Amino acid sequence: MRLRDCHNFHDFRQLAQRRLPGPIFNYIDGGADDEATLRRNSASFERCDLVPNVLRGASSVDMSVTVMGQKLAMPIYCSPTALQRLFHHTGERAVAAAAAKYGTMFGVSSLGTVSLEELRKAHQTPQVYQFYFHKDRGLNRAMMQRAKEAGVEVMMLTVDSITGGNRERDLRTGFSIPFRLTLGGMMQFAIKPMWGINYVTHEGFKLPQLDEHVDMSGGAMSIGRYFTEMLDPSMNWDDVAAMVREWDGQFCLKGIMSVNDAKRAVEIGCTGIILSNHGGRQLDGSRAAFDQLAEIVDAVGDRIDVMMDGGSQRGSHVLKALSLGAKAVGVGRFYLYPLAAAGQAGVERALGLMRAEIERDMKLMGCTTIGRLSRDNLRFR
Ligand code: LAC
Repeated sequence: MRLRDCHNFHDFRQLAQRRLPGPIFNYIDGGADDEATLRRNSASFERCDLVPNVLRGASSVDMSVTVMGQKLAMPIYCSPTALQRLFHHTGERAVAAAAAKYGTMFGVSSLGTVSLEELRKAHQTPQVYQFYFHKDRGLNRAMMQRAKEAGVEVMMLTVDSITGGNRERDLRTGFSIPFRLTLGGMMQFAIKPMWGINYVTHEGFKLPQLDEHVDMSGGAMSIGRYFTEMLDPSMNWDDVAAMVREWDGQFCLKGIMSVNDAKRAVEIGCTGIILSNHGGRQLDGSRAAFDQLAEIVDAVGDRIDVMMDGGSQRGSHVLKALSLGAKAVGVGRFYLYPLAAAGQAGVERALGLMRAEIERDMKLMGCTTIGRLSRDNLRFR
């Protein structure tokens, strides 16, 4: 299978699986516990039907949206994800370049492998900085200051990860940073030598958002341990309110699921919330963001930008979320498999396919602008 044979999410996933050593593929692909929420995220879209309108004249389509003060040429954005240079040696550079080509926003993670400053300088498109709340308050302030000085447009605080999710696939393979593989995990690297050659012949692995502050060299610092040892589980609304005041700009919370929390986000001055269960990687059994979307939009949609992520694999999924009132939809694995499969060319192909699907489906729905999509276009089973 080659890149030009990839026509959808599943094709890219298959190609990524062929290219990546098992422990890395499973880190991307897996979820928490029984992975029920992971499966539900995509299944949730299937319980909702689109009801098209016809004969409205739909020759040209405008799919641009404005969200958290940023104009995006398409209604999806690349959510921040960790460790991208493990998936392809071009990592965040490839994703940011592809997002810029399609005029959309991209996220840089605290656990990103390219510096937020380098990426901010390289492209014009809006950048989100994904932030975790650390026990060390000085570290939190320094990181926000750094993002501000770099010119990052949107601060995105992840609120669903005060402790690591139970990712049993990673426990089995020994996936951690730096690698502390189990024997089985090592065997899986040995049978993918091309990945290893690429990895050792390119710039060494770094976590430039954190390496000034966190010593990752002393033994295997797994993602779970980073969460458990560095992040502050006592984080509360007062702490976040102080951060929002300090940032004094576009600030959103990623991982809000309840109406009460959405209202509190409005009260403390956030400009956006992202309904998310972290791709099914944290609390298994958590509801799908899409299923929770209408309730939240009804409660706060006129006061704050509501976005969602989780399970979107198709243009039609995105249109369903927008019809319910989401301002934009985040994607993660949707661009990570293409990144692993073919670097920047892969991510560009995936975003191009998504763009084409959204455009085609908007025409078939009889809606030439995103603003014309509404709940009248939806029925739930
Ligand atoms: C994860 C964290 C790092 O889901 O966002 O792996």
